[in-house]
Amino acid sequence: MASPSSGNPARPPAGVRLCALGDIADPGGKSFRFRAESKLFAGFVLRRGDAVAGWVDSCPHAGWPLAPLDDRYLTRSGEHILCAGHGALFNLDGVCVTGPCLGERLAPWPVALRDGDVFTA
Ligand code: FES
Repeated sequence: MASPSSGNPARPPAGVRLCALGDIADPGGKSFRFRAESKLFAGFVLRRGDAVAGWVDSCPHAGWPLAPLDDRYLTRSGEHILCAGHGALFNLDGVCVTGPCLGERLAPWPVALRDGDVFTA
């Protein structure tokens, strides 16, 4: 199945610096938006210590961004990714474990940590 961002010209190429690791709460997440003409790419990066993981910011249920108002991508315990749309919970591997998209996955957005900064990969 194609990811929601396949062929999206707004999706940044590999090697684009997103932020410093310290700009992301630990544990926590941060949203990123890129535009190319009328197209938008939305992604978010989760941090846990020195580990980062990126996801396309589009819930498999309705395609909405998971945390449209702030960067609260994680539940209070930090154990799950939360979609504010209808309360779906995803494990940290991006699989929906509770909610209307049970068993579906978030699309990965590869990122990498280099010298304390987060880059697209
Ligand atoms: S849009 Fe995410 S649970 Fe409905």
